[in-house]
Amino acid sequence: MSKVVVFDHPLIQHKLSIMRDKETGVKEFRELLEEIGMLMVYEATRDLETQEVDVETPICTAKCRRLAGRKLAVVPILRAGLGMVDGVLNMVPAAKVGHIGLYRDPETLKPVEYYCKLPADSTEREILVVDPMLATGGSASAAIQFIKDRGCNHIRLLNLIAAPEGVKRMQEDHPDVDIYIAALDDHLNEHGYIVPGLGDAGDRLFGTK
Ligand code: PRP
Ligand code: URA
Repeated sequence: MSKVVVFDHPLIQHKLSIMRDKETGVKEFRELLEEIGMLMVYEATRDLETQEVDVETPICTAKCRRLAGRKLAVVPILRAGLGMVDGVLNMVPAAKVGHIGLYRDPETLKPVEYYCKLPADSTEREILVVDPMLATGGSASAAIQFIKDRGCNHIRLLNLIAAPEGVKRMQEDHPDVDIYIAALDDHLNEHGYIVPGLGDAGDRLFGTK
């Protein structure tokens, strides 16, 4: 069973509360999503491997730690996941970036794939899949299956807001993928929107409605 980590850090919770507000405009929404992406990746990479190295300071040799093990790749689920990429790259500038294009059919709520391009060496990397919303879990589950089908087996999922239904679906379909979220909301409404949620993340990020 995968683990679900809810980030209750006051800075993340404060920023998320502003994002939920229906009066918050596109510019501020976009800035906050990037900022939360940065804070979340800081926490979600807490267990990355390090190794001891000797560093010559101006004073003497210091025993220090540097990252070892797998390099990172960030893979946003288009469109809304794009809003978290720059935040991740602020923290991990050398990460490579892949893209998965999926949208949720408004009638069936099933994900429809339209694009997938991953870094050439992604099988050797730790993959951070990012998307602000985990609702039914259909999009995240399908995106992660595409990534696994391309031979990647070290994957983490980062979402801002999750519904219990999405977490359950992810844990059933991908018990090996840990889930990092800023909030676990109450339920999905009859249109598949998270309640209380923040509305349509893609539309609020890009101003398309
Ligand atoms: C949203 C969101 C997720 C998906 C979540 O994307 O960004 O990808 O819905 O819903 P699910 O868990 O029920 O699959 P959407 O399909 O609206 O596409 P967009 O980002 O292009 O607007
Ligand atoms: N996608 C969104 O953007 N918001 C939701 O609440 C559910 C799916």
